[in-house]
Amino acid sequence: MMVPLDPANKPTSQRRIAEGDTVVVYERHDVMRAVTVAGGGVLQNRFGVFRHADWIGRQFGSKVFSSAGVGGKDGRKAGGGFVYLLAPTPELWTLVLSHRTQILYIADISLVVAYLELIPGCVVLESGTGSGSLTTSLARAVAPQGRVYTFDYHDQRASSAREDFEKNGLSSLIAVAVRDIQGEGFPDEHCGAADAVFLDLPQPWLAIPSAGTMLRQDGVLCSFSPCIEQVQRSCEAMRPFFTDIRTFEILLRTYDVNEGALKSATANEEANVGRLCKKKRKVRPAGEVLDSTQSSCVMVKPCNTARGHTGYLTFARRSVHGSQTEAT
Ligand SMILES: C[S@@+](CC[C@H](N)C(=O)[O-])C[C@H]1O[C@@H](n2cnc3c(N)ncnc32)[C@H](O)[C@@H]1O
Repeated sequence: MMVPLDPANKPTSQRRIAEGDTVVVYERHDVMRAVTVAGGGVLQNRFGVFRHADWIGRQFGSKVFSSAGVGGKDGRKAGGGFVYLLAPTPELWTLVLSHRTQILYIADISLVVAYLELIPGCVVLESGTGSGSLTTSLARAVAPQGRVYTFDYHDQRASSAREDFEKNGLSSLIAVAVRDIQGEGFPDEHCGAADAVFLDLPQPWLAIPSAGTMLRQDGVLCSFSPCIEQVQRSCEAMRPFFTDIRTFEILLRTYDVNEGALKSATANEEANVGRLCKKKRKVRPAGEVLDSTQSSCVMVKPCNTARGHTGYLTFARRSVHGSQTEAT
């Protein structure tokens, strides 16, 4: 179950892991995976063997040790490594889900959720569903009374997304349907009822008139497109229905934070600690203990690999004076 979204659940910090839960097994910020807890299940990784049975009843966020090596104090096994068992928040789910399509990542998602002005109780229409990366964050933003209606014309993608939402306990917040939104538009039943519409489609301009019809007055549309030519055509299509049209590109710069071991022998070297950090730094493997001649220092540097352009986000507000309004 995706814990934070069900108001009946306690906050994640107080929840205990149960059989059937999805947990995010965290080794490092760039090494994690989703695991469904089963009584007889085991997880094997480079640290050894972890029995799911040992996880049941622990709080989300717990650190658990592998059963490799010889027994030690407090249930900790000497020689074994450890992982953290984290709750599958939308932010972590985005990093562990199976990629069936290109997906939106957290930097773009944050701006989408903020600029769509989502609050609990909102109704959101989305197309295409893709891998459900954005959908999961939309659902949390509108929970517990709101709803996300998401459409994809690809049968298999729609049903895989439905399975994921079910597995993560989000089915009451998300309805997935198969529909060609560029060809048919959104279903009439949502006419004037949507607080927000999100499009991640190859030809969004074909769906924009329908999005305008679905939105309540003052509702917000967002369209995500990787190419500027798509943005230009979309903006043209928005002009009759929308106002306050704005396009953003998010470029995120991430930093690596590492703890390093520092050998400090003389007063001179102590005085030159800044230089030493550069010269003698050695990143500690997980669990390594510093000896008495070493001290630690935290080092921060920009990541070598940065995610560059993902796409353009175009936002527009349903205009009170739009041509559709004037006609009615
Ligand atoms: C890039 S993916 C969306 C990814 C999604 N935003 C996410 O974060 O996981 C685009 C999706 O649009 C769907 N799609 C393309 N044309 C469509 C159409 N005419 N109607 C509905 N869905 C469509 C594709 O099947 C695909 O799953």
